[in-house]
Amino acid sequence: MTGNTNTTTDFRNTILNGDSVQLMRALPRNAVDFILTDPPYLVNYKGRDGRKVRNDDNAGWLRPAFNQMHRVLKWGGFAVSFYGWNRIDLFADAWKAAGFRMVGHIVFHKSYSSSSRFLRYEHESAYLLAKGNVTPPASPIPDVIDMPYSGNKLHPTQKPVAALLPLVEAFCPKGGLVMDPFAGSGSSLVAAQHLGRDWLGMELDPDHAATATRRLAWHGTARVAA
Ligand SMILES: C[S@@+](CC[C@H](N)C(=O)[O-])C[C@H]1O[C@@H](n2cnc3c(N)ncnc32)[C@H](O)[C@@H]1O
Repeated sequence: MTGNTNTTTDFRNTILNGDSVQLMRALPRNAVDFILTDPPYLVNYKGRDGRKVRNDDNAGWLRPAFNQMHRVLKWGGFAVSFYGWNRIDLFADAWKAAGFRMVGHIVFHKSYSSSSRFLRYEHESAYLLAKGNVTPPASPIPDVIDMPYSGNKLHPTQKPVAALLPLVEAFCPKGGLVMDPFAGSGSSLVAAQHLGRDWLGMELDPDHAATATRRLAWHGTARVAA
């Protein structure tokens, strides 16, 4: 599915299946209020059940994707991007080359280890990125957030919605548009929808895009029905 992207209302509350670099090129600049994204970590991930993440084995998409994210984000807007801690050099280069300023670092504390080798790996990390002159939130949130186990039932690296809610609340104005160009099963968009923000997801894998579409429709219906 590729939506009509002629006006800013056409792509609100939609999951687009395709390469987000191409899809973002079709969006106008300054169209999005907040980006919350969990891109491939560039670690060639393979879960215990053998599931993989597309584009986790190459960085060809990294700079073009963040260039586009910077272009479509409104001036004075924020982005939060998860990243693979052992690929921070590549991610930081891409963020800075795109024009983002790194204005905060967020640690998501897990109550379990995702792996264990030199350390028990019990946190995820993200950077808070800014485009232009940003206004700090009236009540800044802590930069350590609890991250419960998602169960990974809908996606091999599914993020729990609970850990994403404070970010949407703090960095997207009410009625604003949250975009995730690496949406997976749509967790960031469920957080946006739950808080009454509009949302736009992009996902390369058709199965994950279908999962996200179903999930957002279900949560939307549940919210209306409640
Ligand atoms: C780390 S996962 C996101 C998981 C998501 N946070 C969730 O809770 O389900 C990254 C996703 O980006 C997708 N992806 C990789 N390259 C992409 C591209 N060029 N355009 C759109 N999606 C892409 C992968 O298929 C994968 O589902």
